[in-house]
Amino acid sequence: MDKLVVHGGATLRGAINISGSKNASLPILAATLLTEGECIIRRVPDVSDTNYMVQILSALGSDVERSSGTVRISCADISDEAPYELVRRMRASICVMGPLLARKRRAVVSLPGGCVIGDRPVDLHLRGLEALGAKVEFEGGNIILTAPDGLRGAEIDLRGTHGPTVLGTDNVMMAATLAEGITVIESAAAEPEVLDLANFLNAMGAKIQGAGTRRIVIEGVKELKGVEHTVIPDRIEAGTFMAAAALAGEEVRLRRICREHMKAITEAIVKSGHRIDFNEAGDECVIHRNPETTGCDIVTAPYPGYPTDMQAQMTALLATTPGISVIKDTIFPQRFMHCSELKRMGADIKVDGGTAIVRGVAQLSAAPVMASDLRASAALVLAALKAKGSTEISRLYHIDRGYEHIDEKLLMLGANVERVKDR
Ligand code: EPZ
Repeated sequence: MDKLVVHGGATLRGAINISGSKNASLPILAATLLTEGECIIRRVPDVSDTNYMVQILSALGSDVERSSGTVRISCADISDEAPYELVRRMRASICVMGPLLARKRRAVVSLPGGCVIGDRPVDLHLRGLEALGAKVEFEGGNIILTAPDGLRGAEIDLRGTHGPTVLGTDNVMMAATLAEGITVIESAAAEPEVLDLANFLNAMGAKIQGAGTRRIVIEGVKELKGVEHTVIPDRIEAGTFMAAAALAGEEVRLRRICREHMKAITEAIVKSGHRIDFNEAGDECVIHRNPETTGCDIVTAPYPGYPTDMQAQMTALLATTPGISVIKDTIFPQRFMHCSELKRMGADIKVDGGTAIVRGVAQLSAAPVMASDLRASAALVLAALKAKGSTEISRLYHIDRGYEHIDEKLLMLGANVERVKDR
């Protein structure tokens, strides 16, 4: 398992390109199962999560070619059983369930395991697919969905105790594109990645209105065709580099971003005292770090609120911001694994239930720390950028799941990092 060694103290300067969105790519790749036509998807980030999805689609019988950021895929003749070992390793692969059920009238997909950020139930996905007419059974760790007479449109409310479900909305929306009649999804997730998926599906010939809002209406069609699509920028990667620039940067420029998708993230960084200037087109920004900053409070919420996927990174930034900051994660109340590792580096954080109380310290110090999940590992990298000494971050595979060539991008900005192959 690789390690990342971050020698703290370098000032970040210069410009990098932000990659395409991992969380838009995954459901869009799954949606290609809905047609036997060829699809070409551009700006798919080269991260292990998208590589897993490509492997799953190949195992289902798709013909997939990947060259740098472009995936060319034809799902002419596919199986309805997803490979258990692959699916169970990546929760997001649950989003092949809806397309498989709609295309094959049967889907066998392994129950996703939980993970360190919390129990990852799929009850809302199943509520929606059952409402469309699927029969749901469980056997040998698999979910078995069948709809021998096809799917029929329905009115579905997908709200859960922690708000809307992103992949649950994706699954039901994809299945509904080939259902008989009209489907209405109330309490839908409104993330930009859901809208990007809907735009892809509409280009394929689907009839979806209201994506990007809490109420989505889908009129079923007979079949969908292959299309080309370019994935939206990754707002969480962009937010992570924004936080890095606010921590240790000077005039860092991010290119190929989307201002519209980053309002809550931008607002939080500006609220803690830094300045962010966007260009006219809103596809570039420069972060001006302000050494005189103050703590601020963060409460995560479904889009357009502050994203839970940026909670750990903001915690790392606020760990060395003077003052007290209170960070509450309403989506994943257990998502504070990064705090114990930040405390090894000298952070002053008290975690109580779904809230972290952070008292900014003058400087963190290097320590051997361990990545536990994708965004927690990003938070450790950020903290190490400014810490005194050299921090070793183990289990780097967590970060490689969702950040494309993060060490190369940090080196381009002048950070002093090195990837060390573990013997
Ligand atoms: C998506 O996961 C993202 N993953 C996650 O990003 C992100 O943290 C999450 O949305 C919330 O924004 C992808 O898009 C691939 P949810 P998803 O269903 O869809 C509960 C990352 O770092 N829930 O929106 O799996 C759930 O427990 C990843 O890139 C149910 O109760 O999350 C959580 O509390 C991590 N029942 C809340 O809803 C269900 O059936 C939101 O989860 C489904 C979810």
